Amino acid sequence: MTQALTVLGIETSCDETAAAVVRRHADGRAEVLSSVVASQTEAHQPFGGVVPEIAARAHVEIVDGIVAQALAEADVGFDVLDGVGATAGPGLVGGVMVGLSFGKAVALARGLPLVAVNHLEGHAVSARLGAEADYPFLLLLVSGGHCQLLVVEGVGRMRRLGSTIDDAAGEAFDKVAKALGLGYPGGPALEALAEKGDASRYPLPRALLGRKDCDFSFSGLKTAAARLAADAQNDQDRADLAASVQAAIARQLAERSDRAMALYVQEHAHRLFVVAGGVAANRTVRRVLEDTAAARGFAFLAPPLKYCTDNAAMIALASAERLAAGLTSPLDAAARPRWPLDEASALADPTHKPGRKGAKA
Ligand code: KG4
Ligand code: ZN
Repeated sequence: MTQALTVLGIETSCDETAAAVVRRHADGRAEVLSSVVASQTEAHQPFGGVVPEIAARAHVEIVDGIVAQALAEADVGFDVLDGVGATAGPGLVGGVMVGLSFGKAVALARGLPLVAVNHLEGHAVSARLGAEADYPFLLLLVSGGHCQLLVVEGVGRMRRLGSTIDDAAGEAFDKVAKALGLGYPGGPALEALAEKGDASRYPLPRALLGRKDCDFSFSGLKTAAARLAADAQNDQDRADLAASVQAAIARQLAERSDRAMALYVQEHAHRLFVVAGGVAANRTVRRVLEDTAAARGFAFLAPPLKYCTDNAAMIALASAERLAAGLTSPLDAAARPRWPLDEASALADPTHKPGRKGAKA
C-alpha cells in the first residue's frame, strides 16, 4: 500500500486564486491541512462577468503569496511535500498558465513530481474531501462553466453520460440574474430573490424532453426568461420569475440525473449520487436532487460549500490520487483551454466535437 502523500495544489483557471495542502493517507482518506481561496469577484464586478485579462494579471500578482499562506497554514515547508499539482485546464488559458507555470517552477526547484490536473477531475473528487465517498459513484457536475453527468471510477477513469449542448447551468443562473438586474455572480442573488417568489407563476420551456440521453440545454430557458424579465413590472414579478427559473433548472437537472441513475445501475451496485460545482450550493437544486436520488435508492452527497465552488484542495487531492496511482506529468505539460475529462467519449460523440473550440462544458 502507498505511503501517506502530502501534496500542494494550485488552482487559477477562472477568477479564484487558490492553493491548498492535502495529505492522502495510505488508506485513501483525505486530510485537508490548508485551503486558501482568494476571490477576484470585486475586480470583475463592474464588468458583470469575468474578464480574462484582468483575471490572469490578478493571478500573477498574488499566486506566490497564496501558496506561501497555504504552506504556512498547513505548517509545512516545501521539504515535506511529495508532489505539486496545478490545474492545467479547462479554463481561461491566461490564468491556467500562471498557476501551471508556478507549479512547474516549484517542481523543478524542489525536485518534486508534477501533476497537471484537469479542473473537472478536481470537482469530481471534491466530495471525498469532506466525507467518505468510495468509488464508483455517479456525479452531476454543475458549475458556471460545466454541466455534465459522469460515472466516476477513480482518477483517470471517468466516463461521461451526458453534458450540456449549449450553456452550463450556472451560466443560465448568471445570465437570467443579469437580465433581472441582479449583480455578479448571479446564482446566489437569484436564489435569494426566488425565496419571495411563486415558482408556478411562469411556465418556461422544457428542453430535450423526449430524448433518452443525458444531455442538457439551457439556452431556450435563458432566452425565454430574459424576455419575461424585460416585461416584469414590479418586484413581485421579478421574484416570481426568479423562482420559476430556479425550479425549471432544478427540474431539468433532476430529470437528466434520473436517466443517468437508470443507466448507472445497469453496471454498478454501489448506489451513490454526488453533486458538485458551484450550483450545488443552491438549496432548491440540492433538495430536488436529493429526492430524485432517494426515489432511485441512491445515497446522496454534496460536498461542503467551500469545496463545491472553485478551490485548490480538490486539485491537491486529485494530484495525490494520481501520484498514488503512479501518474505524473512532464514539465512541459501544456495549458489547455479546452480539455474534456474523457477524451474517448468526446471523440466518439459528435455533440461534443473536439474541433477548433472543443467540448465546451
Ligand atoms: O464551481 P464554480 O465556483 O466555478 C466554476 O467552475 O464555474 O461555480 C460558479 C457558478 C456560478 O455560475 C454561480 O452563479 C453558481 O455557481 N452558483 C449558484 C449558487 N452559488 C453559486 N447558482 C445558483 N444558486 C446558488 N446559490
Ligand atoms: Zn470549477
